[in-house]
Amino acid sequence: MIRRAHLLLGLALVATLPGAGFAQDTIDSASGATATLHGDQPGPVMNRQVFGQFAEHLGHGIYGGIWVGETSSIPNDHGYRRDVLEALRAIKVPVVRWPGGCFADEYHWRDGVGPRGKRPVKINTNWGGVNEDNAFGTIEYMGFVERLGAEAYVSANVGSAPPSETAQWVEYMTSPNGSTLAKQRAADGHAAPFKVPYLGIGNELWGCGGNMRAEYAADLTNRYALFAKSGTGKMLKIASGPSDANYEWTDTLMRLSGKNIDGLSLHYYTRPRDQEWKDKGAALGFPESEWASTMAHTLQMDEFVTKHSAIMDKYDPAKKVWLVVDEWGTWYDPAPGSNPGFLVQQNSVRDAVVAGLNLNIFAHHADRVKMAAIAQMVNVLQAMLLTDGAKMVKTPTYWVFDLYKPWQDATVLPIDVKSPWYHKDATALPAISASAVRDTAGQVHVALVNLDPNRAIPLSIALAGVTASSVAGRIVTGTTMDAHNSFEQPDVVKPVAFTGAHVSGGTLSTTLPPMSVVVLDLQ
Ligand code: AHR
Repeated sequence: MIRRAHLLLGLALVATLPGAGFAQDTIDSASGATATLHGDQPGPVMNRQVFGQFAEHLGHGIYGGIWVGETSSIPNDHGYRRDVLEALRAIKVPVVRWPGGCFADEYHWRDGVGPRGKRPVKINTNWGGVNEDNAFGTIEYMGFVERLGAEAYVSANVGSAPPSETAQWVEYMTSPNGSTLAKQRAADGHAAPFKVPYLGIGNELWGCGGNMRAEYAADLTNRYALFAKSGTGKMLKIASGPSDANYEWTDTLMRLSGKNIDGLSLHYYTRPRDQEWKDKGAALGFPESEWASTMAHTLQMDEFVTKHSAIMDKYDPAKKVWLVVDEWGTWYDPAPGSNPGFLVQQNSVRDAVVAGLNLNIFAHHADRVKMAAIAQMVNVLQAMLLTDGAKMVKTPTYWVFDLYKPWQDATVLPIDVKSPWYHKDATALPAISASAVRDTAGQVHVALVNLDPNRAIPLSIALAGVTASSVAGRIVTGTTMDAHNSFEQPDVVKPVAFTGAHVSGGTLSTTLPPMSVVVLDLQ
């Protein structure tokens, strides 16, 4: 009963969402979907930073995943895996959040600078109790984002280090002058100061970042933010925000710190089984009921973003403070046989659909959601890439990020959808989710997600204020709910050309295959 009520509550909110230039309505299950794309009512820009990634010192997220060291037999560029660099460059990763996560509030930056052989070995107490030899530190991280062409988003230790440690780390990274810390950076191999456009003031301060009350966290946020001074231009300070429906946290942080911060983080993970942490559900081989609950829980992101944004509006009606969804994605039971502390999970077409739904939600809230980071980039949770020794495979989620590249820095166009329901047992959800943008070159793109795993759904979109005579597209889908890529079969789920869409008389028509993510480019 609890589960049923929970899912239907989520449903009611989804079905009536006003959103930012977005409306979702539902119609009879057997019908097709209809929509109107309002090209004449341009909305906000969807910052490319919304497509950010999270890389924590967790399992093989860094070691083995990104960094193998210069002496590795795995092809590398000064220690960074070449295959991983190339794959991440191809999806235009705009920003990388590092070093945590829970790891951040136990991380002391001085452990990760200077000659690698002399760096201390610590225990990674959060993630498997394994040795952390600090081979990947500040200079290595900066070299990584530089090679990707991405921006740096550094999370400072608020939980177990004084504000002076954060201030000195920022000085080490950004000071252009001849200070001792700038000289130390030069001696470590980088004379020029780094840009740090984003600084996280702790992580999950209500939990692994220090078990704090919101009032105490707000006081610390103000204090740490004050003393962290960048020598290389604007550094946005992102407060440790709520998770899920912790609206009191948002209210308190905005009330007590709203004037001192540039962003507030939000964390929300999709788990299949009634949002439990102990028994979350398997990544592969799951029943359709868990497909449905995964979709229902994913759609709750819209409710959380809407309600946290409304609280932020109360204190910041001009929307200067970014909502930064810097941990999102699926979290399943660990892969059989893996270290449970490493959060290894496979990634299937279900994850592709989850990614599409979340990205559409962020597009609908592009006025407030200005940055995000999927958790996590390589080998951890809903990853882009999985590696095993020298092998690497791109996941279905990677391919969704590839499809959505035109959304980076594009203008969001409102799209109102009337969707049929997808029913499974007591769960009923709008089957179709959509978002649309006009890119910086003026081309219009439409993203369409059909979360129904069984039914192809016809869709017709009235194009208002958009002139198009032809359409091309790509689709990510699979033949089973858990279709996935493995090292042995790396191309089971990957984008293929989608030729089933047509434009005629101001209407875009198509039929969306079950469990699919489609991106259409109008010409
Ligand atoms: O992404 C894994 C963990 O989830 C992060 O370290 C923490 O911030 C969150 O609880």
